[in-house]
Amino acid sequence: MKKIAIVSRKGGVGKSTLTMNLAVVAGQAIIIDTDPQASCADWGDRRDYEPPEVQTVPAGRVQVSLKRCQTDWLFVDTQPSAEASLIEIAQIADLCVVVLRPGQLELDALGATLAAIRAAQAKAVFCINQAHPQANLSDLVVGLEQHYPVGPLIRSRADFPASVAEGRAVTEWNPEGKAAAEIQTYWSWLQENLN
Ligand SMILES: Nc1ncnc2c1ncn2[C@@H]1O[C@H](COP(=O)(O)OP(=O)(O)OP(=O)(O)O)[C@@H](O)[C@H]1O
Ligand SMILES: [Mg+2]
Repeated sequence: MKKIAIVSRKGGVGKSTLTMNLAVVAGQAIIIDTDPQASCADWGDRRDYEPPEVQTVPAGRVQVSLKRCQTDWLFVDTQPSAEASLIEIAQIADLCVVVLRPGQLELDALGATLAAIRAAQAKAVFCINQAHPQANLSDLVVGLEQHYPVGPLIRSRADFPASVAEGRAVTEWNPEGKAAAEIQTYWSWLQENLN
């Protein structure tokens, strides 16, 4: 079982959205939702027991709950914090995906996230999410690559909020859409980075 933690000190960057979408394209997956906001759990309720299973687990109990999980892929959605619980989750994970929305305030908050990952001595990659559809972000990518590998961009696409509202992933909602293609591309890249 490969364990992937989706993290960011900054709120609203798309951690939960990415967790749901990656879990669906991954196939045999379980989501552990450690955020009291329970975004993934609410989304799971709208799926009427269709996989992936979403477990609501307090951040400090992830390690214990892992013992009951039997699956190929485990995705841990986290709350927007860089506190002790994040370090603990990063230590358990095989890979942390640091989600970043392009913007100065998001960059300002990045240091705290990276400090937590370093404290955990965890392996990490970036996911730039909600990029403007036409934005050229090559400078940002070069800067981030000094810390960790940066995956293919995921841009701001209406399919994300629309599908979440219906308890769907973008690949289920609009399989031919750009959002679906970007998620598939990011997932392929992520798997390469786990090996
Ligand atoms: N690529 C995207 N394109 C368009 N909208 C997006 C995209 N990714 C996320 N969103 C929207 O951005 C908002 C925040 O997303 P989400 O709740 O997944 O972020 P989060 O990082 O989990 O937030 P929190 O820190 O509060 O847990 C939601 O309304 C979601 O639908
Ligand atoms: Mg969230």
